[in-house]
Amino acid sequence: AGALKVGIAGLGTVGSSLARIITGRANELSVTCGRAIEITAVSARDRSRDRGIDLSGMAWFESAEEMAARADIDVLVELIGGAEGPAERAVRAALDRGLHVVTANKALLARHGVELAALAEKKGVLLNFEAAVAGGIPVIKALRESLTGNRISRVYGIMNGTCNYILTRMEKEGLSFQDCLTEAQRLGYAEADPTFDIEGNDTAHKLAILTTLAFGTQIAADEIYLEGISNISIEDIEAAADLGYRIKLLGVAQQTDSGIEQRVHPTMVPRDSVIAQVDGVTNAVAIESDILGELLMVGPGAGGDATASAVLGDIADIAKSRPGEQRVPVLGTPAEALEPYRRAR
Ligand code: NDP
Ligand code: HSE
Repeated sequence: AGALKVGIAGLGTVGSSLARIITGRANELSVTCGRAIEITAVSARDRSRDRGIDLSGMAWFESAEEMAARADIDVLVELIGGAEGPAERAVRAALDRGLHVVTANKALLARHGVELAALAEKKGVLLNFEAAVAGGIPVIKALRESLTGNRISRVYGIMNGTCNYILTRMEKEGLSFQDCLTEAQRLGYAEADPTFDIEGNDTAHKLAILTTLAFGTQIAADEIYLEGISNISIEDIEAAADLGYRIKLLGVAQQTDSGIEQRVHPTMVPRDSVIAQVDGVTNAVAIESDILGELLMVGPGAGGDATASAVLGDIADIAKSRPGEQRVPVLGTPAEALEPYRRAR
């Protein structure tokens, strides 16, 4: 097959890491993917900004939507962010045109994921989003592929690197909440609007995606009980430590007799538990299922390279796919289709 032509919309923390990795490992990638991966187009706001990438040979577009609609590309990689606006318009334009899409945008997926997945299915293209949940941890692949046939009873974990970084540094170094947040922003961990991190919305977006994949329900991000970490003080952390606990921001989705319960809130976890040992920007996702038992995945949850690693895996997946290949379910298996199996439990 010829080279897979990639257009990257958004050259910030994640997009510029991805571009550096693809251009720096061109030969290796052409071997591991079975064909070359070539960045033929890019889009960002400010053309003059130095991003440490050689942009020659890549078409530059002011508008991501225009790139998606017109550029010579096979795949749109959306790394702008935001549930609406340029990211949404670019993804829709790419799918309408029959291009594959890779995105790390959990806000977009939590709002429009089911509809976009249906559009991708209709067009016979892939919509991949491994980086949207827990950075570099391959939790989407685990749920979509490895755990097929398992009945999942609970998914929970630390899904926001910024919050875990803040809580860890407050506890271990006695730094202020604001100083830790500023540092997380400097390191490229935080969302463009960091209230999404600290008020728990980002964890809720990720949890909504995991719930949909784990339980076959429609996305219901607005129904998640939500409480962030902005009111957590060093005194709270010390009081929890005196009792033998650490405070972690957890997302939890579990099957109950009255349906799927979804919640995001700071939680006191026993100091000796594995999840309590997860520090800094590291994330951890636990999946409890009937055949496998408990699976715990721990790894880098945010940052340019960690996230680019997951995006690159999604691109490689497309490079290796056959034209017109469909993967079902993409997102949001109709709940009614799984209902007979639920009743049989
Ligand atoms: P940044 O804010 O660092 O980068 C955003 C990029 O989008 C910038 O290059 C910006 O351009 C560009 N941009 C903004 N508006 C437009 C527009 N209208 N048209 C074209 N380009 C535009 O974000 P991140 O790289 O941190 O995040 C990107 C996505 O990845 C988000 O969805 C985020 O939630 C997700 N994500 C991020 C992770 C992380 O650790 N940072 C981890 C997992 C997911 P310019 O540079 O010119 O300003
Ligand atoms: N802002 C997010 C976080 C990026 O801190 O986890 C990764 O999704």
